[in-house]
Amino acid sequence: MAYNLLKGKKGIIFGALNENSIAWKVAERAHEEGAVFTLTNTPIALRMGELDELGKKCNAEIIPADATSVDDIKVVIEKSMEVLGGKVDFILHSIGMSPNVRKGLSYDKLNYKNLEKTLDISAISFHKILQVAREMDAINEWGSVVALSYVAAQRVFYGYNDMADAKSLLESIARSFGYIYGRDKKVRVNTISQSPTITTAGSGVKGFDKLVDFSERTSPLGNADALECADYCITLFSDLTRKVTMQNLYNDGGFSSMGMSYRAMMQYEKGFDEKPTEW
Ligand SMILES: NC(=O)c1ccc[n+]([C@@H]2O[C@H](COP(=O)([O-])OP(=O)(O)OC[C@H]3O[C@@H](n4cnc5c(N)ncnc54)[C@H](O)[C@@H]3O)[C@@H](O)[C@H]2O)c1
Repeated sequence: MAYNLLKGKKGIIFGALNENSIAWKVAERAHEEGAVFTLTNTPIALRMGELDELGKKCNAEIIPADATSVDDIKVVIEKSMEVLGGKVDFILHSIGMSPNVRKGLSYDKLNYKNLEKTLDISAISFHKILQVAREMDAINEWGSVVALSYVAAQRVFYGYNDMADAKSLLESIARSFGYIYGRDKKVRVNTISQSPTITTAGSGVKGFDKLVDFSERTSPLGNADALECADYCITLFSDLTRKVTMQNLYNDGGFSSMGMSYRAMMQYEKGFDEKPTEW
């Protein structure tokens, strides 16, 4: 259902790759809610993905950019303001990638060049976007910037690897920059900590299907899917959340507040006959 929550608002959406992407759902929902926006992703992603289809559907211009490049970000913001006819009201950072995860290197065998890339792509790019946007004075007062995080920033989830460190940094950037941008321009900055969701990035994590199953069973409301994440993003881009800033907001069916559920206790009682080969 559409409520016209973003009528008259302009935005930039980073990170839609294919129809499973969270950013893809955000774009569809933002379009339904009356926003106009540009879409951006890496040149490789544009070649591999299906972004043209989304661009046509949402009447959105696609601007290639590597979000680790300050110059590319400048181009995206400049072109977006040109195409949209002025400053923007919202930006979505929906970007994540770890070469260590991709190459199956465990957390105690990290390649440090890869770690630098993980942090640059998945967290520092958020700082770069905020810094460039502020320097270019590209966001209207009471604008809203959202990045997507995961509960592994606070707690250990086997297999999430160096992405956990990236997410901790991402959430810290939201707080630190949220202070500066809020103080100076009344721009709010938040992260949404999303349930495990079956997407290209998500599925790269070791044992991801078990992670999805575990949190589905643990969360009283079940996992939030990509569309539900998009809905939450829309509320944060809207004027209904003008005083929400510098927060990490859970969209996870209650998972992050759970310790042990009755169901898990019953399962635990059955005992463990076999010792796992890997810890
Ligand atoms: N899927 C999950 O379980 C889950 C859970 C919590 C948070 N998140 C976060 O949600 C965000 C979106 O991921 P998704 O699950 O929709 O997967 P996705 O694979 O659809 O999106 C990840 C995007 O990052 C883009 N990207 C990678 N390197 C880039 C770069 N250098 N510059 C610009 N873009 C780049 C990819 O092209 C892709 O579009 C990520 O931050 C991810 O960590 C995902």
